Amino acid sequence: MTALSIDHVSKSFGGVDAVADISMQVPAGRITGLIGPNGAGKTTLINLITGILTVSKGHIRFGEQDITQAPAHMVARAGITRTFQNIRLLTEASVIDNVMIGFYRRERSSTLASLLGLPAARKETVSLRARALALLELFGMAHLAEHEAGGLAYGHQRRVEMMRALASEPALILLDEPVAGMNDVEAAELGEIFTRLAREGMGVLLIEHNVRFVTQLCHHIYVLDSGRMIASGTPTEVVNNPAVITAYLGA
Ligand SMILES: Nc1ncnc2c1ncn2[C@@H]1O[C@H](COP(=O)(O)OP(=O)(O)O)[C@@H](O)[C@H]1O
Ligand SMILES: [Mg+2]
Repeated sequence: MTALSIDHVSKSFGGVDAVADISMQVPAGRITGLIGPNGAGKTTLINLITGILTVSKGHIRFGEQDITQAPAHMVARAGITRTFQNIRLLTEASVIDNVMIGFYRRERSSTLASLLGLPAARKETVSLRARALALLELFGMAHLAEHEAGGLAYGHQRRVEMMRALASEPALILLDEPVAGMNDVEAAELGEIFTRLAREGMGVLLIEHNVRFVTQLCHHIYVLDSGRMIASGTPTEVVNNPAVITAYLGA
């Protein structure tokens, strides 16, 4: 059970602190929430964790491993994956091919071997397809396996992004506003899937704008505003915190 530990992390862009002295714990087997108004620094924090941006100050650890300066591919290899706030799919490829791209971290045969169609690679492709189909079933999209990804409805495209992230069998998934633009029914369906992933032992960091959705799912919630941590605690503690109410409603 590997926990992510963020210790006094800061990131400044041209002298402005987008993330200022943030400390957080994201344990395995739980859904941890990260909320805050637009521009609070939520996505920046994910970019720092995943090695897309370099940390200005502080430390990030995943279990025993110090990943503060680790490049993106090392963070992925450590078992951390993410989804993007803006959907990034191969729009002309099929749904199942988009999901299978996510397996790369685990793939054993060389890409050349699979291009040549060597037997070992072929066998692996068959088993990866079976695993991709299992994910499609979990997300209720098995019937859309051969559908072109770009032709899917928005909510389904978001699901493909999540399945692709899950295909690498991560220990920790960072979800950047995964239910943005979805209706309550779709959001609730995804919420059930997140709960199930956590119950199976995965760490889940859920970034959201929708406070109600987060409070229903999370054990612990952190609140950012203008790069600073203004509150943290249980859902009840956080929604009753005057600083949080002010941040959301405006002073
Ligand atoms: N690469 C960057 N260069 C300069 N400023 C950035 C960069 N990324 C984010 N910022 C700034 O950092 C702040 C936090 O942004 P962001 O992390 O996207 O917020 P959130 O995801 O909470 O809406 C914003 O003021 C944004 O303009
Ligand atoms: Mg963001």
